[in-house]
Amino acid sequence: MAENMGNLKRTDMNGTLNSGFIGKEVILCGWVAKTRNLGSLLFVDLRDRTGIAQLVFDGESEKELFEKAAKLRSEYVIIIKGVVRPRAPEAVNKNMATGEVEVAVSELRILSEAETPPIQVGDKVVNSEENRLKYRFLDLRTTAMQKNLLMRSEICRIARNYFAENGFIEIETPILNKSTPEGARDYLVPSRVHPGKFYALPQSPQLFKQMLMVSGFDRYIQIARCFRDEDLRADRQPEFTQIDLEMSFVDIDDVISVNEGFIKKVFKDVLNKDIEIPLKRMPYSEAMRRFGSDKPDIRFGMELCDISEFAKGCGFKIFADSVANGGAVRLVVAPGAGSFSRKEIDRLGEFVKTHGGSGMAWIAPGENGEHRSSLGKVLTPDEINKIIEISGANTGDLICIISGKSDVVYTVLGALRLELGDKLGLIPKDEFAFLWITDFPLFEYSEEEGRYVAMHHPFTMPMDEDLDKLESDQGAMRAKAYDIVLNGYELGGGSIRIHDREIQKKMFKALGLTDEVANERFGFLLEAFKYGTPPHGGMAYGLDRLVMLMAGCDNIRDTIAFPKVQNASCLLTGAPDYVDDVQLDELNIAVTKKEEKND
Ligand code: AMO
Repeated sequence: MAENMGNLKRTDMNGTLNSGFIGKEVILCGWVAKTRNLGSLLFVDLRDRTGIAQLVFDGESEKELFEKAAKLRSEYVIIIKGVVRPRAPEAVNKNMATGEVEVAVSELRILSEAETPPIQVGDKVVNSEENRLKYRFLDLRTTAMQKNLLMRSEICRIARNYFAENGFIEIETPILNKSTPEGARDYLVPSRVHPGKFYALPQSPQLFKQMLMVSGFDRYIQIARCFRDEDLRADRQPEFTQIDLEMSFVDIDDVISVNEGFIKKVFKDVLNKDIEIPLKRMPYSEAMRRFGSDKPDIRFGMELCDISEFAKGCGFKIFADSVANGGAVRLVVAPGAGSFSRKEIDRLGEFVKTHGGSGMAWIAPGENGEHRSSLGKVLTPDEINKIIEISGANTGDLICIISGKSDVVYTVLGALRLELGDKLGLIPKDEFAFLWITDFPLFEYSEEEGRYVAMHHPFTMPMDEDLDKLESDQGAMRAKAYDIVLNGYELGGGSIRIHDREIQKKMFKALGLTDEVANERFGFLLEAFKYGTPPHGGMAYGLDRLVMLMAGCDNIRDTIAFPKVQNASCLLTGAPDYVDDVQLDELNIAVTKKEEKND
């Protein structure tokens, strides 16, 4: 049976013990990580979140206590009293923070017994991800997860302090909402009191933070939970957290500058890394042209090269037609990949298809003007040599060529560049390469909807010099929007907002929204804007992504205590789940289709 703590009160955390404690009596508690019974001596590694302390039970002098200790199993929770002493010289463990000392125990209380855990707990353990998430409460005992969550907590604390010191006020915004226009699908919550009506969970606090500027708070910050029903990836969760902020009386440089201060501080304080500011900036069009991505990983080269000029007059119809139809032919040179086997190159072709490309042409330049190429039958040797020359490729490299619609070519080459950069070991893993992407297009054309849609959201301010194009040349307009990119991830993004009602009206018109629809969706914000609106702008970081990159993990799930898996379910609790008919009746909801298997 479990004992209580009696009059024992913890004096120290296990990981803090060192030779300075020698001779001191301590009371420690935690989980049994390991036991070693040598017959006359019994060693226990006692773990808490700060580390491990070695306990010693002496079978000669403390017989009863020793017998009690012999019953200890992994993950039992205990509290002990004892005196810190130096370890025997041969037992000193230099790899352990507490490795010079041990605690000679005089009192032991077993506070909780534990069954054998279904997954491994501790340092450097390997468990399947499914089991890790199913037994998350145990997985969170591992050193790696404790480190990530402690770092997350530290980052939040630094964010709160930094922004508070810079005049930001923390304000919470509602979770039960009207839909916000961030472009993903909403999670809906039925209203019991208003049959047939639904709240939407916030995709971000966007409209509320803008209203807080109207209210005069001047600078707002919130560590805000956001919900988006979108396809999950390694860097996306259906519910995630933003460090969300908004500022009044500012333009782009003001927002960027206060945020560069934050980035510098958080990287220095958490990782002791000096990030040089101001950070690099790159216009969107340059990022696409050079890297095929609006979130380029600039830790390595392999920049894209455009051969459309050459291709439009070449003998290969697919290339020439791509350019004639308004598309492009571009390539990327993979250094040293000329030695890839046919099988490996074919695999790259498959990769290209999974990213929407129709295929990949390739050239591997060899010695003395020789080469291997998939284009041998459709281009002359001179034409192939011309491509090699334009690309700047050397003997032993592999030239990967993609043709088609311009945006598809960018997407495919952008992905191929990352894939090859990784495969060829070109990406320095311990570098942090930040970049602001600026000058985003204000609109993008949606083939699906047959109209322009806002690239960021409908409240994003156009560049001053593009304002006169709002009614005539929307496609050419650029936005006062910016993303902060780190190592190929979109870490955050924001914009200066429209605060002028006339511009806003024209913006809605350009987006094909009637006054009626605009009023129905955002009437409250437009109403607020009638009564004195300061110029304002802001941004939001993906906190989970920031932690992921700072902690050096490659999945956002490892930064969230209780995350969802790919199909948006929680393996620990089983959410989402069916609910009682009574609950549905109360909400006036009839379920018309059920998942076939609920596992
Ligand atoms: P945006 O939609 O770009 O902007 O989101 C800001 C940042 O949030 C992170 N993020 C996500 N992280 C994990 N899972 C997701 N599903 C997910 N979606 C987004 C990204 C992203 O850069 N209201 C605007 C901000 C503003 O304009 O002030 C907004 O939400 O890191």
